[in-house]
Amino acid sequence: MPDAPNPGPSFGDLGTEEAIREEAENLQNAEKEPEHLSEQGRPTPGGPPDRTATPNPKIQVQDVSFWYGAKQVLKDITMDVPPNQVTAFIGPSGCGKSTLLRCLNRMNELIPESRLTGHILIDGQDIYEGADPVMVRRRIGMVFQKPNPFPKSIYQNVAWGAKINGFKGNMDEHVEHCLRQAALWDEVKDRLKEQAYSLSGGQQQRLCIARTLAVKPDVVLMDEPASALDPIATAKLEETILDLKKVYTIIIVTHNMQQASRISDETAFFYLGELVELNKTVELFTRPKNPRTEDYITGRFG
Ligand SMILES: Nc1ncnc2c1ncn2[C@@H]1O[C@H](COP(=O)(O)OP(=O)(O)O)[C@@H](O)[C@H]1O
Ligand SMILES: [Mg+2]
Repeated sequence: MPDAPNPGPSFGDLGTEEAIREEAENLQNAEKEPEHLSEQGRPTPGGPPDRTATPNPKIQVQDVSFWYGAKQVLKDITMDVPPNQVTAFIGPSGCGKSTLLRCLNRMNELIPESRLTGHILIDGQDIYEGADPVMVRRRIGMVFQKPNPFPKSIYQNVAWGAKINGFKGNMDEHVEHCLRQAALWDEVKDRLKEQAYSLSGGQQQRLCIARTLAVKPDVVLMDEPASALDPIATAKLEETILDLKKVYTIIIVTHNMQQASRISDETAFFYLGELVELNKTVELFTRPKNPRTEDYITGRFG
């Protein structure tokens, strides 16, 4: 990983940055996920992944490989992510989906002894070389698997990140705007001073989305954001995501293939650290080009 200059103290070191740090600590302490597929033997050969031509990509991933210590978990990933679309990352557990997602906002570099090669560009600019990681994480927000609101009020959860990122406008309006975008306003407008923890799991997750939006990112990364939610909360979250893509570029990791087909425009299928196939979601699910994709989506493994 290229050495980034230490940005020094920054107003972005709190707020969403704090959520990121907390999550990075969890990652370091987490037990490593088992690789369910190690007994499956070598994957069948299938030619290069299908790369959708993207005229104005929001994100360009170029030959990205990634290691935790000596273990390589991403292998030469190259893909473009189009703007204002939902891109889904699918694939069996342990294939590197979360790792790639975290590379996209430089969150992995908080993990000791990790290493990245290759390049990641947002709007044509390298996010590692010459970029401030705090600014990168502000522009590229992240919503985690488990809702992780701060132990503060609903209002403060949204306002805090905006404030320390230097927001100068009308905070009440900004909080309302973000809560509306996250489709939560109507449910919380009369209880903004209540603790975030008083909300249901699904509401907490939408609050975390509102908090992410409060620092005005242009990309929102979501790592299995519905996995802790019931079906009704999941449906609400999916609706919210479809709404958000008008303004934001969204990447969602999901193990739920119905969810990928419901909400995403493009889907990337990963297997053992490789990008096997990337295509329009409808194409990938109805006419997969690679036998490994077909095996996965028809439930033969994973
Ligand atoms: N913090 C970490 N330290 C070491 N290995 C890790 C860490 N996080 C994930 N891994 C390993 O990297 C591989 C990819 O994991 P991950 O990106 O979480 O996959 P996915 O999200 O597709 O389930 C797995 O083998 C996992 O055990
Ligand atoms: Mg994961």
